[in-house]
Amino acid sequence: MSPAAPDPSQVAAQPVHSVGAVLGLPGVRRFWFALGLSSLGDWAGLLALTALANDLAGANYADRNFAIAGVLLVRVFPALLVGPLGGYLADLLDRRATLVVGSLLRAAVYATIPLAGSLTWLLVATVLVEMVNLVWLPAKDATVPNLVPRERLEAANRLVLATTYGAALPAALLFVGLSIVSEALNSTLGWFGGSQVTLVLCANSIAFAVSGLLFLGLRGVIPAGAAIAAEDRAGVLRGVLDGWSYVARSALVRSLVLGIVGAFAAGGVVIAMARVYVDDLGAGDPGYGVLFGAVFAGLGAGMWRGPRSLRGVTRRRLFGLALIAAGVVLVAISLVADMVLAALLSVLLGFAAGVAWVTGYTILGLEVENSFRGRTFGFITSLVRLVLALVLAVAPVVAGLIGPHRWRVNDDVSLTYGGTQLTFLLAGVLAVAVGVATFVQMNDRPGVSVTAELRQAWGAGGAYSPRGVFVALEGGEGVGKSTQARLLGEWLTADGFEVVLTREPGDTEVGAALRRIVLDPATGALSPRTEALLYAADKAEHVDRVVGPALDRGAVVVTDRYVDSTLAYQGAGRDLTVGEVEPLARWATGDLRPHLTVLLDLPAAEGLARVVGRDRIEAEPVEFHERVRSSFRALAVADPEHYLVVEGDAPPDEVAGRVRARVQPLLLQATRVAAT
Ligand code: TMP
Repeated sequence: MSPAAPDPSQVAAQPVHSVGAVLGLPGVRRFWFALGLSSLGDWAGLLALTALANDLAGANYADRNFAIAGVLLVRVFPALLVGPLGGYLADLLDRRATLVVGSLLRAAVYATIPLAGSLTWLLVATVLVEMVNLVWLPAKDATVPNLVPRERLEAANRLVLATTYGAALPAALLFVGLSIVSEALNSTLGWFGGSQVTLVLCANSIAFAVSGLLFLGLRGVIPAGAAIAAEDRAGVLRGVLDGWSYVARSALVRSLVLGIVGAFAAGGVVIAMARVYVDDLGAGDPGYGVLFGAVFAGLGAGMWRGPRSLRGVTRRRLFGLALIAAGVVLVAISLVADMVLAALLSVLLGFAAGVAWVTGYTILGLEVENSFRGRTFGFITSLVRLVLALVLAVAPVVAGLIGPHRWRVNDDVSLTYGGTQLTFLLAGVLAVAVGVATFVQMNDRPGVSVTAELRQAWGAGGAYSPRGVFVALEGGEGVGKSTQARLLGEWLTADGFEVVLTREPGDTEVGAALRRIVLDPATGALSPRTEALLYAADKAEHVDRVVGPALDRGAVVVTDRYVDSTLAYQGAGRDLTVGEVEPLARWATGDLRPHLTVLLDLPAAEGLARVVGRDRIEAEPVEFHERVRSSFRALAVADPEHYLVVEGDAPPDEVAGRVRARVQPLLLQATRVAAT
């Protein structure tokens, strides 16, 4: 059914943002296919059921509207009543079995609707499907982080969200196509008893059944058994309450929930008011369509490209920032009173919301323990529905109460400001407030300015890995870098972090050969350009093979020398300029920058005196090494945020203490691999 998956060993070599690489992981392609089919079924089901409700309700206009509203309402209410239970079941039951049975049950329920042909059964069936969804959706959300390595979760989430929501389009086409076919069959052969949606419901049923069978084949891919450990199981109520208290206990999850709910509340206001808003602008139905298209285009772009184009900003900060941005744009929309501008701003609004969505979803997947994931996703789903229902009911009332207002500026100019615009303004302010609160609570790089991060994210200042921690030790000869690298490594390991101690040149196979060439006195004189290229080649290999993959795993990488050594030795020591060698070294390393560079500073002569047996570089005269030292110091002065300068002749323990103090706050980005 699904095409052959590529060799998983090739996946590791692909960039972490690659969705193609995610699809190459074992089982993911099948999972994706199954998810696509059930999403298709969900959307086509929504269309079919509302259309059928309309048909079954008879000729009365009011009855038809009530029937459609009924279908939409009964989709929301089960979530409010039994939503938390759904999340609990998603944690308690074997998740693969839940996905299989959930899909098959929905297949069965959809098949009964045309057979029964009654509005009552249609509403009952809708409730049943929704109840299955309440277990199925959290089980699906909780499974995704188990299918992919942590560093690929964001790419996986982009795929999952694009599939879940993107399925609406083929579903609409399927609905239209099958309705036409069944109408033709009805008028020629008298099939399907006059209801055009029967065929759609049958196709739906088949889509769910096939999706269930595909999930069945994921044995060994989705972890088997309950996510909640046997000793932690203590009754249904306890289990549900445990889920809530988990959310309440974890400051991070609490902030995420606040952010997500705030975003949906603001989004709900937009949905509730958009139609009247475009009328206020004199744009009518076409304007409404344009506005929705604009938001969705932005949303898709934000989900698909946003986190990548803003890499360098940590995920936790990005989430809050995206909410703030969405709020600011909403405020702007409320102020412009111009359809074209409003449409353009709506793209931005969608983009910010899309970034927040995929980022929040990824943080949840990364931070929430597997055994609580179903309940956390379930909790959020229920809360979001509750808030949406409230907002959809309340926002129009607020706007109505405010009503239209006209201010006369002078005899010719007056300003009309509608209740919808004021409500938008309030929603925007709410989103900004929630965004700021979330940002402050989740800020994992206190003291680092957002503008600097954004500048870096947009390529002006290089890229800082959003995962793991990258520390470089720099300095002249004999300054004690290796000792400090060892001490830092021991401290981090004792604290439970994965630590990768590495060095340049020479920490890869090719690098070792290059190291021999550049350092062996037998090599003799090299053209400065050749030397710069050899060091650059070592760096490219080092970042690609050692540093990058370790950071993606969430490790703390401590490198003995990095790009600054090239800037100082080749750019200042040799007969080249920093301007010449910097682009080369940045290109070689993909402009990956250390979160912290520790410069151990010592007069060149003192350092050289500590060195026994000089290599090709150490054999250079002391003036060469003094130029190197000044160059290092200049780099540190220019960017204090990312540098720590320590006297190399201070006692090693004191130096180590100062290094630890600077590294400590960065560790929020690293993954602990062992209990402390
Ligand atoms: P070390 O690892 O023993 O300190 O030796 C590396 C030598 O290579 C040292 O003298 C500095 C020099 N070097 C450069 O000239 N450019 C570079 O980019 C790097 C990484 C090192």
